[in-house]
Parts: sequence; structure tokens; C-alpha cells
Amino acid sequence: MKILMVCLGNICRSPLAHGVMEHLAHQNGLNWEIDSAGTGNWHIGAQPDRRSIAVARRHGIDISGQTCRQFEVADFERFDQILVMDYSNLNDVKALARNEEEHKKISLFLKDKIVPDPYHDDDQFDLVYQMIMKRCKEFVEEYTSTI
Ligand code: 4NP
Repeated sequence: MKILMVCLGNICRSPLAHGVMEHLAHQNGLNWEIDSAGTGNWHIGAQPDRRSIAVARRHGIDISGQTCRQFEVADFERFDQILVMDYSNLNDVKALARNEEEHKKISLFLKDKIVPDPYHDDDQFDLVYQMIMKRCKEFVEEYTSTI
């Protein structure tokens, strides 16, 4: 499976979701391709935010090698699922979808709620990590129970 995680900046939430899903896929012997991107272009070429790197590192996951990039229309062809962190990301990515098949690939990462943007609040990074880890575990369990 090829999964793209998307948030606004691609420096806080989606790099964590990318790193956590990659880690769990590897642990479970799943040959998945995981990537992340931002709808915005401010941080292109940057490393993830140091607070995301730190919270991942505290849990044994290294995301420091990731490089920020912007979502592009070609991602609809490269990925099977495009998982977005909030409704603003959902609207932005949906606005770029060109047909029903592309629309169907897009969904909220947490299904019915958002992953809050922690950029302006240092204290949110732990919560964001926990939300992301819980959903990634569920996602892998849902998948492995059907194969
Ligand atoms: P992210 O957080 O979407 O989780 O990467 C943000 C990072 C940067 C900005 C906004 C949100 N920014 O405005 O630069």
C-alpha cells in the first residue's frame, strides 16, 4: 500500500504520521510506501519541526531525515490513500482532485475528527503524537486482520 500523509506545513503533524506509520509497517513486515506533504509551500526543503523530531525520538522513531515538500497533483497517481489531518487540508486537497477516483483516495486520517495543529503550542506535541500512534496502530490492525 502507498500512503501519503498531508497537513498544512509538512513540518509538524504529517511528518509524525509518516514516521510512525513507516515504523509500524516495518515492524509488521508490511512493504508499504509512506510519504508526507504539506498543502502550503513555506517550509519546502526544511527538516521536520524540532518538536516533532523530539517527540518521535523520545518514542524511538527517527524522523530527522525527512524533507518537507508540497502536495502536488501527481500524488493522486502515486498513492492509494491520501490521509489528511484536518478539514482545511481536506478542502485544499479535494480542490485539486480531478475525478471521482482521485476524490475517493482522500480521507481524514482520524476518520471523524481532526489532528490539531500544534505549531503554536509546544504542549500539544505529545497529544498529537499519541493521537497519531493510536490511529496508525488501528490502521495496521485493520489491514492485517483482513489479509
Ligand atoms: P503542520 O503545522 O501543518 O502540522 O506542519 C504547521 C506548520 C507550519 C505552519 C502552520 C502549521 N506555518 O504556518 O508555517
